[in-house]
Order: sequence, then structure tokens, then C-alpha cells
Amino acid sequence: MKKKNKVKLIVSLSVIASLSLGIFGFIYFSYLHHYYGKDVTYNWKESNQFELESLPVVKKEKNQEFKILNLADIQLGDIENFFNMNRAKKEIDYLVNLTKPDLITLTGDQTWFNENRYSLLNIVSWMESYKIPWAPIFGNHDFGNPGHIAVATPTYICDKYENTKYSLFKRGPTNIDSLGNYVIRILEDEKTYSLLYMVDSGVNEKINDQQISYFNWISKGVKQAEGSLPESFAFMHKPLPEYIDAYYSYQKHESGSEAQGEIYHYYYLGGSEQNGFFDFAKSINIKNIVAGHQHGNCFSIKYEDTWLTSSLKTGEFGGTIDNEKVYLNGATLFKLSNHQVQIENIFVQKGQF
Ligand SMILES: [Fe+2]
Repeated sequence: MKKKNKVKLIVSLSVIASLSLGIFGFIYFSYLHHYYGKDVTYNWKESNQFELESLPVVKKEKNQEFKILNLADIQLGDIENFFNMNRAKKEIDYLVNLTKPDLITLTGDQTWFNENRYSLLNIVSWMESYKIPWAPIFGNHDFGNPGHIAVATPTYICDKYENTKYSLFKRGPTNIDSLGNYVIRILEDEKTYSLLYMVDSGVNEKINDQQISYFNWISKGVKQAEGSLPESFAFMHKPLPEYIDAYYSYQKHESGSEAQGEIYHYYYLGGSEQNGFFDFAKSINIKNIVAGHQHGNCFSIKYEDTWLTSSLKTGEFGGTIDNEKVYLNGATLFKLSNHQVQIENIFVQKGQF
């Protein structure tokens, strides 16, 4: 064989080998390389017997302030954020050490992209290291980006969130189209001080009728057991459409509208499709709704007697808004005392870690 032909053959074989490797890699990482967890079936129906003791509990000391630190959209990816994982951890360590919360909530998009297992395991181990109860919900990226299945599948993530010492996460019914719906009781003196409705607006990006029925069943059960419903919270990933009305109502100085803390609006308002969730929330005495997802918005506005909070984004990615004119990053803190809720943003500066 002539030298020229030999070179051509080697080049062609190298191209074919690289392409095959690329295609195999793509198929492997996109579709084959997955971790699955326990496949639990819990078929819920309205006629099921409700048991108050089945709800996860976190205790509040009598007449003491109770602090909830909300971390939103940490968005770690095993490849995309490999080199700044440590930075994210330092920021979260700082936020937790500074605020010393009684509970840490995570309003979804803890991870993003398909390579999410290492990121998930990191976040679980960081949360456990604080020895503080923590409660995650799902966002639109936790199970992978649209059209893909992440390496850590929903059942695997549920297992990791459930099989820990400090997480309050509890897999919800498996017959209502989203796994991460649960309700936490904050208990003071053996009575419910507040309920935290952890709403999975995650991968489906909306709240459906079944979710509302399930939460209604729980609130009815609590009311029956205790005689009344306390002022409560709902945590979700995507903000409700009422966030739009709340924001403009405040801008127009409409009566009853007020704000706590800073107001930043650099991203579209609202986001979640919903099915009357706001009216339902008001009917079961939810006074605070907390959402993440938006990165470029941060505010707490009172609307129709309910506080709607767009939580500050935690961790670096997506913190720079409007061509670096503003860097919105940190976490949002809720201080509960004497049945009042004070809301504060804890800002982190660019380059602080
Ligand atoms: Fe999101």
C-alpha cells in the first residue's frame, strides 16, 4: 500500500473510531447510565384514613424564634459545576453558620443537567453535616433537563433524600403524577404551630387537581385532630401566576399591598401553571408562599393577605443579571415568632468565596 493511501486509511479509521466512541458515549450517558431507587407504590385516595402522626415533625421551642433558611436553585451539575462545587459549599456553610436556622428548606433545582448523581450526593452530605432538619422539594431540573433522564433518577433521589438522619423529605403518593408532595408539622408544645406544605411543581411545572385534593385531605385531617388550622406555609419551585398581580399591585401602591426587604425584578414574573392553588392556599390558612426558580427576582410582597416570596438564588450559576449590573445571590430567611413572620434576604457578593 502506498504511503498516501496508508495515511488516508489511518485518518478514516480514526474518524470512524472517534465518531463511534462519541455516539456510544452519548447513548451511554443519556440513556443507559442511570441509578434507580426503591420503587414504592403508595396509592392515595380521599377515603384513606388520615393519621396526624404520619406527618414529619420539627420542634419549635415555646416562645422562642424559629428560623427557616430557604436555599433556592443551587443548580449543581457534575460536569458543568465540577470546579465550583467547593465554592457552592463554602457559600452554603457561610449562610447556615451566619443564620443558625432551625430548618433548611430547598425549593428545587438542587441539581441540573443529566450528570447529577455526584452533585446530589454532595448536597445530601452537606445538609447532613449541619445536623439541622432539612426539607427539599423538586424543581424543573432535578430529574434532568427537558427531554432527558438524569443519571440519578427520581426514585434514586427520593431514596437519598429519605434515607438520612436529618431530612424531613417524605415521598408522597405515587398515583398523583409527582412524587415530592408532603407536609411538615412545626410542633410547639405538642400542638401544630405551623404546617409547611411542600409542593412538587417540579418536572410537570404545574400543580394539578390531585395535588390540591391530597393537600386538602391533610389539612382536613389536621383540623379534625386539633380543632383548627394554624397559619401555614407553602414551598414550591415555580412561582404562582399571582406573583405577577402581587408585584404590580405593590408597584401601584394598592391598598393591602406591602413588602418586606429588597425588591429586585430582572426576570419574568410567575411561571407555574396552576389550578386554583392560590385560592386553595388561602382557604387552608396558608399565609406565606415561597418559590424559587427565577434567579433574577427577589421580593416578598403581601397580596390578598398572603405573603408571596421569590426567594434569593443560592450558589453561583445564574447569579449575574442584566449584564453584570446586579448579582443576586444568597438565601432567604423566615423568622417565626409570636405568629408573625419576618422575612430577610442574606446577600452574598460576587467573589466573596
Ligand atoms: Fe427552575
